[in-house]
Amino acid sequence: MDQTHDINRTRRDVLITGALSATAAVLPAAGQAQALADAGAAGVSTPVPVTSKVALRVNGQRVELDVDTRTTLLDLLREHMHLTGTKKGCDQGQCGACTVIADGRRINSCLSLAVMHEGADVTTIEGLGQPGKLHPMQAAFIKHDGYQCGYCTPGQICSAVAVLDEVRRGIPSHASADLSVRPLLSAAEIRERMSGNICRCGAYSNIVDAITEVAEGKA
Ligand code: FES
Ligand code: FES
Repeated sequence: MDQTHDINRTRRDVLITGALSATAAVLPAAGQAQALADAGAAGVSTPVPVTSKVALRVNGQRVELDVDTRTTLLDLLREHMHLTGTKKGCDQGQCGACTVIADGRRINSCLSLAVMHEGADVTTIEGLGQPGKLHPMQAAFIKHDGYQCGYCTPGQICSAVAVLDEVRRGIPSHASADLSVRPLLSAAEIRERMSGNICRCGAYSNIVDAITEVAEGKA
């Protein structure tokens, strides 16, 4: 076999496939069809989406969906289930707007594939409380003005709820002075533990007040 030809063809295939994926997002349907036909004529096999069933519980409700295996948990919640309370900020794990609680742990749902959560128990902001029956953390955020535009707020609240759980279970943070004793929820602890949740409006001090009030059992 002519290995040089083989290598060139492989590189050419990769370039064509890359160009196709780059244009797929902007081409109208007819354009995509033409591009796929061109690829076929060039002998290039185009990637076919692989779908898989995923079954999980979201806010106490069992759901089973057939999704592209590349679907993130965030997109499953927002695009497939229309639970738009969970926000997409950076879509790359830097802002915390997409924070949800999965099996008791807070995660950035934009960084996690939906198929990784088979059988999981996921709680979003919609599952924490409802109008007229708010979760204490939601009520405290309102009372202390822990938001302005509100875009980061669902992620902040899910994170804050998980922070209280982490402290209750004695899990230390980078700000904990002594790793062998149960951490006290000081302002420094709250700020450290909430540091993955960015608020562009800068509502940080009010968020700390809200979390402190719930932690002290006053909310
Ligand atoms: Fe997930 Fe920013 S949208 S961390
Ligand atoms: Fe606007 Fe936090 S309230 S980004």
